Amino acid sequence: MKNTAAIVLAAGRGTRMKSSTPKVLHRLQSRPLLSSVLEALKGAGIDRQILVLGHKDKAVKSVFPGREIVIQKKLLGSGDAVKSAKAALSAFKGEVLVICGDTPLIRRETIKKLMTEQKNSGASCTLLTAKLANPAGYGRILRDDAGNIQRIVEEKNASIYEEVIEEINVGCYSFNKKDLFSSLEKLKMDAKKKEYYLTDVIEMLAEENKKISSILCENPEEAIGINSRLDLARANAIIKGRTLEALMTEGVTVVDPNSTFVNAGARIGRDTVIEPHTIIENGVTIGENCHIGPFARIREKTKIADNVKIGNFTELVRTKVSSGSRIKHMTYLGDAEVGKNVNVGAGTITANYDGKNKNKTIIEDDSFIGVGAILIAPIKIGKGAVVGAGSVVTRNKNVPPRKTVAGVPAKVLCRRRKK
Ligand code: UD1
Ligand code: CA
Repeated sequence: MKNTAAIVLAAGRGTRMKSSTPKVLHRLQSRPLLSSVLEALKGAGIDRQILVLGHKDKAVKSVFPGREIVIQKKLLGSGDAVKSAKAALSAFKGEVLVICGDTPLIRRETIKKLMTEQKNSGASCTLLTAKLANPAGYGRILRDDAGNIQRIVEEKNASIYEEVIEEINVGCYSFNKKDLFSSLEKLKMDAKKKEYYLTDVIEMLAEENKKISSILCENPEEAIGINSRLDLARANAIIKGRTLEALMTEGVTVVDPNSTFVNAGARIGRDTVIEPHTIIENGVTIGENCHIGPFARIREKTKIADNVKIGNFTELVRTKVSSGSRIKHMTYLGDAEVGKNVNVGAGTITANYDGKNKNKTIIEDDSFIGVGAILIAPIKIGKGAVVGAGSVVTRNKNVPPRKTVAGVPAKVLCRRRKK
């Protein structure tokens, strides 16, 4: 396929977010929104990605180090933003894909389709469009009676007849490079908004009888542009829905999808049951046949093996739990490694942070931690050991295998009785 370079528009002020954080750094599923756009481009095979930054460019740059960046000096609209990438592409031969940095739900497959259509149709521009029951806020696609695209009208300039058009501009286009940049040179400032609209290029191309093609988003949800916090919450809900659906399709029981939050970056094995009010964060892996929740919070870098039970009001972070272990009530484990067939009693807490460092707690196979134990890290509870209820096991006072300890501070009482 012909070479494609992408221009990612991310210079805007994001006024409607009412935020001191640049819009593209707002988090969607715990990652900056811009990450989703860049990943979709990469997934579609576009390695050359030029970020156009302007508003708080340094803040954005620091989150995306090593990227090719051009700066839009004055924020004069999306048309001007694309123009700022002209010099960077002077030696480039191929198609130019322009995408808004605030459309994080566009899938890689859709971008691929857009590129294929641009190539097969030989068009000057291929647009991504979507049909929305409520098109408010988006640019509307105007077609002639034969269905050819004539122009895009922005909402601010739309007549009442144009406002009812349901087909909208998603903000992702593949352009013939020469046609794009020569039109941008002739672009006029929008009288109302005092900006150069990229969307006006479409009308210019149509008037020159250039071919304009389009691809319709299969799923209109992909079209959502994040302009406000409401849009952000909507997008989060859409990704959450997609994630839970995929999990259920793969054999995970989600008892109440409404109250369950699973990050798209989590992996969960089949026959695992997730009870209501459970939060599973980015990068977590959970094995097969586990029981999680209700009211559990499984945080980053946690790995749970098969046949594990995690119960209510339990928080795990950077913790590994091996198969067959049970952590069923009101427990906090941070930076811990729990072996096989361990029972962690209600209310057990790892004191993993000493004010400076996060320290490790190791609980070896077959051990039994009594209710209300405090394990001050770094600490190791040996294989088959017992920690009595209410004990405080102090740092570095490792419990030897098969010993029972109890008290504050915990002391060795006896060998664990054989079953
Ligand atoms: C834009 C489109 C609209 C489309 C919608 C899809 C234009 C004129 N309108 O509207 O047709 O339906 O996206 O979501 O393009 N930006 C810059 N520099 C600027 C201004 C904007 O880089 O000077 C960037 C923004 O950071 C943003 C993108 O361009 O990523 C679009 O700008 P935004 O103001 O969000 O445009 P919309 O009103 O959403
Ligand atoms: Ca937008």
